[in-house]
Amino acid sequence: MEIAVQCQNPTADNNDCVVVGVYEGGTLSPAATLIDLASGGALQALINTGDFSGACGETQMLYQVPKIAAARVLVLGLGTHGKVKDSQFRKAALAAAHALQNARISRVSLHLLDTPVVRRSASALAKILVQAMAEVDYHFDQHKKPADKPQRAFGAMQLIVSEGNMAELAEVQRAAAEAHATARAVAWAKDLANEPGNVCTPAWLAGQAEAMAQRLGIKSTILGPDAMEALGMHLLLGVANGSRQPPRLIILEYWGGAEDQAPIVLVGKGLTFDAGGISLKPADKMEEMKYDMCGGASALAAIQAAAELKLPLNVITVVPASENLPDGQATKPGDIHKSMKGLSVEIVNTDAEGRLILADALTYVERFEPDVVIDIATLTGACVIALGHQTAAVLGNHEGLVHELIAAGKENMDRAWELPLFDEYQEQLKSPFADLSNVGGRPAGTITAACFLSRFTENYHWAHLDIAGVAWKSGENKGATGRPVPLLVEYLLRRARQVA
Ligand code: BES
Ligand code: MN
Ligand code: ZN
Repeated sequence: MEIAVQCQNPTADNNDCVVVGVYEGGTLSPAATLIDLASGGALQALINTGDFSGACGETQMLYQVPKIAAARVLVLGLGTHGKVKDSQFRKAALAAAHALQNARISRVSLHLLDTPVVRRSASALAKILVQAMAEVDYHFDQHKKPADKPQRAFGAMQLIVSEGNMAELAEVQRAAAEAHATARAVAWAKDLANEPGNVCTPAWLAGQAEAMAQRLGIKSTILGPDAMEALGMHLLLGVANGSRQPPRLIILEYWGGAEDQAPIVLVGKGLTFDAGGISLKPADKMEEMKYDMCGGASALAAIQAAAELKLPLNVITVVPASENLPDGQATKPGDIHKSMKGLSVEIVNTDAEGRLILADALTYVERFEPDVVIDIATLTGACVIALGHQTAAVLGNHEGLVHELIAAGKENMDRAWELPLFDEYQEQLKSPFADLSNVGGRPAGTITAACFLSRFTENYHWAHLDIAGVAWKSGENKGATGRPVPLLVEYLLRRARQVA
């Protein structure tokens, strides 16, 4: 998908389709008004029929509109004028994208930046439009026969800034470039995650990361079991025990900032298939556990965006990758393994494996003397109960970092909300036999999982994103969402702006 930003009068725009907004009750947007005037009332005629109310997400395609250069005009309902919220603008943008795709229109001009959206600038709207178009444009059909592959919809999209608005043009151009890089990162994270477990193994994931690193000229290091053994990463190795696929530790380093700038470190859970191990999961929906590497995918995708955008930052991504399967060699409930940090862990439930592989990775990253460490993981089913599929959980040991992540998520409608990490919860992780148990019982499962991680992150500023509810969709529209890549990239963009 190509993206361009231009100043253009909608009547003279000769793209395949121009999209303009109409509000509830038939109020025309500025771009719609220009089309209506030039065409002798084509839009007013539509509204007068009563067939189009302007409700948020309503669409109507018009053909051969008199005196209009474009072959088609898509009229898009935006809801109540002056009261359009960002979530409604996004809903309308998705509806437009679907309508365009159904009509198989590949070159489109969006004259929608003239929409007043509560507390949002034109560049924020540009981001929402690009992300919505990219979302509808995404398909994962590598494994289907060619005849079943849906046609790709969008060849090129133009974001139109109203004529003479040169200051806004530059702003929107920058936002569009950022949004485009974000959209590519989201699509890549989805691609990695949607691959089934028999394709996406730890070694395959490492290979994909290396290929990206090579393409963008960033440093990559891949560690296997021998190196892990030498480092004492027995929690990570213990999870991999039950698998024929050897684990990998993927390390990517993008040094785009000043030499003395401490790096931002992203650590993503890369569990390529989670059967639960000896604490085997029930069969229902177990196939969705191929998505247990979504945190890793998002950490890889975020560093890709940082490198593509040449952000003046130092960013490091570390992904511990493993399968979690039952086997004669697998870790058994009650086994005790020693972490790289030196703490021993009683593994009461082998299905609480994410925190184990993360713990060793979080110890490993101390060597980078990080400014901050953010881990991203599909860590707990409890998180889905707490926050549903709308919101990720964020917990951490540094208030400022937690708030910056929440703010970054708000900007992109990739939202996160804080859960408490009070000391009192640590009690639940006591083990009679080891320094720590890997589970804390049913109450506050997301918090006790984060408590476990917190024991390995005491030496730096750290935040944890539990993305169990937001990383993929079940049911009819099953597939990875690419979340929280938009949150992560926005966080990096904001950090880059602070440096510049
Ligand atoms: N990957 C799962 C968490 C998960 C489950 C994410 C369902 C999304 C949907 C994780 O490894 C896990 O199994 N967690 C256990 C922890 C429990 C044993 C303390 C869980 O949440 O049940
Ligand atoms: Mn598990
Ligand atoms: Zn898991």
